[in-house]
Amino acid sequence: MSVYRVTGGRKLNGQVTAQGAKNSVLPILAATLLAPGCSVISNCPNLSDVAVTLEILTLLGCRVERMGDTVAIDASALSRAEIPPRLMREMRSSVIFLGALLARSGTAELSYPGGCELGPRPINLHLSALRALGAEIGEDQGCLRCRGGTAMRGGTFRLPLPSVGATENVMLAAVSCPGTTTIVGAAQEPEIVDLQNFLRAMGVRVSGAGGPVITVEGNRTLPHPARYTVMGDRIAAATYLCAVGATGGQVEVQGVEPEHLTAVTDCLQAAGCRVHTAPKRISLTSSGRLKGIAPVRTAPYPGFPTDAQALLMAALAGGTGSTTFVETIFDSRYRHVEPLRRMGADIRLSGRTAVVYGTGGLHGAAVHGGDLRAAAALVTAALAAQGESRISGLEHIRRGYDGLDRNLRALGGDITEEP
Ligand code: EPU
Repeated sequence: MSVYRVTGGRKLNGQVTAQGAKNSVLPILAATLLAPGCSVISNCPNLSDVAVTLEILTLLGCRVERMGDTVAIDASALSRAEIPPRLMREMRSSVIFLGALLARSGTAELSYPGGCELGPRPINLHLSALRALGAEIGEDQGCLRCRGGTAMRGGTFRLPLPSVGATENVMLAAVSCPGTTTIVGAAQEPEIVDLQNFLRAMGVRVSGAGGPVITVEGNRTLPHPARYTVMGDRIAAATYLCAVGATGGQVEVQGVEPEHLTAVTDCLQAAGCRVHTAPKRISLTSSGRLKGIAPVRTAPYPGFPTDAQALLMAALAGGTGSTTFVETIFDSRYRHVEPLRRMGADIRLSGRTAVVYGTGGLHGAAVHGGDLRAAAALVTAALAAQGESRISGLEHIRRGYDGLDRNLRALGGDITEEP
């Protein structure tokens, strides 16, 4: 098991390019299944979640070839429509294959997905939306047997909450449902827009992504393969911005749309950072002494992203003044709180609310990151803390960050991976 050894207290300076977005590339790779032919996806980050997705595609019969950050997926000949539990357990977004397989093969067999432990993560909305389109889904001891085929037809489905994954699953399944599918109450995250753009590049008639109503004009003719470049990762960008906010310095993050990060940069500005934006660039200057800000409530896009909650909390914990966080998306997304306390943070937790009292500085410690963003938050805290930290849980970081330590070293951070 390897760890990051971080010696804190160095300011971060320079430029960093955000990797391709994890939460875009996973559904886009699943969507390549729809087209019998070879799609080519660029800006594909090197992540363990991507490796699992490519393994699933290979197992289903696709020919997959990776050349640097470009992946070619030839889905001409699918040989099966079942995904074994071993791969389903690896990550939550494996459930997106349900919609893609129903559209391409008319059938799918898989088990309940795994992923980061953020409290219960049901898939009831995915299943009820697909059933509303005509899919027959049987559940037997954690195994889902789904049959679609000619029974599936376009229709209107209202999502009671804007689930990102359920929106994506319906968009994919709807591609081969004859007629118009309308998703009301859709998730509005930028990753949904990226998926729409890829589907359009495949010739699918889909519109409305980025707003609450998405329409897909489906038919039984499968779309054609496409070349596509995945957008930049807003949460990876938020990670670098929070890190420089905490350590002090000046960093420009490139390759990401500033408007995707407004909720995060507004908070960093309120905490005392200077932020400049230009197309696909965000530059942040910080003294390294952040102050408390007005309550931060996580919310669906364009609200403050739950994925950046731990990162901002870590940055503020060593500052001054207090900040209240309210986590509204997931039941259990405070796994970073205990390890941050071990680094000297003063955080009081009550249900979904956490109040952070800035202590004026954290100290290094040996800590474990229990999920992807919790682990990244500990790296953020360690870069600003006095002394040395050892952070375990790198298997979580590898799920979502391509070269986090390498990029932070290039900015002047003292971080190395050790066995
Ligand atoms: N929910 C249900 N039923 C469902 C689906 C969702 O009750 O059928 C609930 C969830 O339990 C949760 C809320 O709805 O409380 C939102 O879940 P959503 O479906 O939107 O999340 P997701 O699709 O599972 C994606 C990202 C997450 C990100 C969330 C929210 C991917 C692969 N994952 O998850 O990313 O936190 O949206 O924005 O796109 C991460 O990158 O660290 C990460 C966890």
